[in-house]
Amino acid sequence: MIELDGVSKSFDDGRTWAVRDLTLHVAEGELLVLLGSSGCGKTTTLKMINRLVEATQGSIRVCDRDVGQYDPVALRRSIGYVFQGIGLFPHMTIEQNVTVVLRLKGRPREERLVRAEELMELVGLDPRAFAGRYPAELSGGEQQRVGVARALAGDPACLLMDEPFGALDAITRDALQDELLRLKKTLAKTFVFVTHDIFEALKLADRIAVMHQGRLEQVGTRDQLLSSPSTRFVKDLFERPARQLAASKPG
Ligand SMILES: Nc1ncnc2c1ncn2[C@@H]1O[C@H](COP(=O)(O)OP(=O)(O)OP(=O)(O)O)[C@@H](O)[C@H]1O
Ligand SMILES: [Mg+2]
Repeated sequence: MIELDGVSKSFDDGRTWAVRDLTLHVAEGELLVLLGSSGCGKTTTLKMINRLVEATQGSIRVCDRDVGQYDPVALRRSIGYVFQGIGLFPHMTIEQNVTVVLRLKGRPREERLVRAEELMELVGLDPRAFAGRYPAELSGGEQQRVGVARALAGDPACLLMDEPFGALDAITRDALQDELLRLKKTLAKTFVFVTHDIFEALKLADRIAVMHQGRLEQVGTRDQLLSSPSTRFVKDLFERPARQLAASKPG
């Protein structure tokens, strides 16, 4: 579904590299987590997939087509994107925020209203309570749900989510993670989910891609990373969670 081959990005003509020689394939229906610490190139990688950032080198294909062959605006509308931070439009109501892509596509108002209701219910927001409110009148967790609903509005085959639950308290975060897993079961979509939280990665991912200083350290299932880390960095990263998980196992 999404294939990156030898992808690099430099913002300064090759003096430093935000992403370096990244090869990563995401299968249809998979939830792949990009895990790494601040500045390791996670957001840059996501943005290269929908061409908010152009790769310096390498090839990126979405649905078997090079991203360079897509019209960038059409590409962005066909891939859902949940921005780091919340990024709702403050002057628009929740309903308008959720359906902004549909309005850009010129869909009629009636259809947008119906879809807004569906989407809000899908992410657990009562449309009667929320449709007419403005983002500032919602809690952080509610705003995040709106962000997810908005990304789903165009019924994209892929969804890119950049630390969508990063700013939330642990309890809300846990609830939204459960909902994402539920959504993944109901909607056959491909997800690339960025986080710097190992436990979030372990909970959500079909596979985890560990990035460090712009490079891919290892990609694999949770069990592969926990039991056979292939680099020192991955081993150190998973050591504590591996111990905690072992300690919490019954027997
Ligand atoms: N537009 C830009 N111009 C110049 N440098 C940039 C730009 N965007 C990102 N960078 C640099 O590229 C590197 C990777 O940044 P990126 O935003 O991808 O990191 P990240 O992994 O998403 O970090 P965080 O977890 O803090 O969001 C950083 O060193 C950053 O300073
Ligand atoms: Mg980022």
